[in-house]
Amino acid sequence: MAEYKRFEVTWKRRLNDNMVWMKIYAPLVAKHAKPGQFIILRTDEYGERIPLTMAGHNEEDGTIDLIYAAVGRTTMLMDQIEVGECFADIVGPLGKPTHMEGLKSVCVVGGGTGNALAYPLACGMKDAGVDTYMVEGFKTKELVILEEELKEHLGDDHVFVVTDDGSYGEKAFTTVKLENLIKEGYQFDEIVAVGPPIMMKFVCEIAAKYNIPSVASLTAYMIDGTGMCGGCRCKIGGEDKFVCVDGPEFDGSLVDWDDLMKRSNYYKDQEAIDRAHVCRLTGGVRYND
Ligand SMILES: Cc1cc2nc3c(=O)[nH]c(=O)nc-3n(C[C@H](O)[C@H](O)[C@H](O)COP(=O)(O)OP(=O)(O)OC[C@H]3O[C@@H](n4cnc5c(N)ncnc54)[C@H](O)[C@@H]3O)c2cc1C
Ligand code: FES
Repeated sequence: MAEYKRFEVTWKRRLNDNMVWMKIYAPLVAKHAKPGQFIILRTDEYGERIPLTMAGHNEEDGTIDLIYAAVGRTTMLMDQIEVGECFADIVGPLGKPTHMEGLKSVCVVGGGTGNALAYPLACGMKDAGVDTYMVEGFKTKELVILEEELKEHLGDDHVFVVTDDGSYGEKAFTTVKLENLIKEGYQFDEIVAVGPPIMMKFVCEIAAKYNIPSVASLTAYMIDGTGMCGGCRCKIGGEDKFVCVDGPEFDGSLVDWDDLMKRSNYYKDQEAIDRAHVCRLTGGVRYND
């Protein structure tokens, strides 16, 4: 086995203009990782902690896979970390693994960046013997990712790519495609939604309409990832839950979507890319400098 430094990037591939797939040497995390779990990383000692789903792991190589969209400060910094360079730290695996026991046939519905999180989940289900279908939805052709990888893993006839504008695959929203599949007679004993909250809300509503259990993978804002700070609190069946320790997957029929969407807007101003964060703890170091 090659000698790598802790948290060294061992492989990196650009999937499209803003999505990147990388493998990182993190043997202890790789040893314990399961589909559905995530890590929290920092790019450098002043960096903020961000959660990312593990898109795969290889215990033998000691590596974990991350697929991320460069949407803001930290993910853009990740873009600058090249093969041979290291992250400051990676904590994980965090969160509960995907529940698969007893499932026979599942449809995973991914929207946009959510497809990066849906990919390991769908592959993990298939590896566990579940007949797994995937609806991958994107705004437009340029954003399509992981189609080949999914077809290779699940089978060509198990992957349906849809785009909002019809520039690739079928012109449809993921929700419409899902409902059409159900109407065509596909039998699913669970539907898993991974993507923007509004898409997950409607996917779960369609599941409920056809009496199919649904699961939603939530990506609430996180800070510590241990259930202590309350940053990722959400309402599930009227009860407060923490996405980092109780999730990230929850019964889709129990999620309070309005509360979730309201909370995800709380930090919009602070997270905006053009706003510098001045940290009082580090004596005024501007993270945008
Ligand atoms: C459990 C979990 C797993 C995740 N897995 C992945 C993954 O595999 N791949 C991936 O690309 N992303 C994933 N995310 C989202 C990822 O954590 C954020 O994109 C990242 O924190 C953005 O950091 P940033 O500093 O680059 O951007 P910021 O400057 O912090 O934010 C840029 C923009 O993205 C929005 N944003 C930031 N964080 C979130 C969030 N958690 N939910 C919704 N909007 C957000 C901000 O409001 C802002 O508009 C995951 C999130 C969670 C909670
Ligand atoms: S991230 Fe702090 S409680 Fe979940």
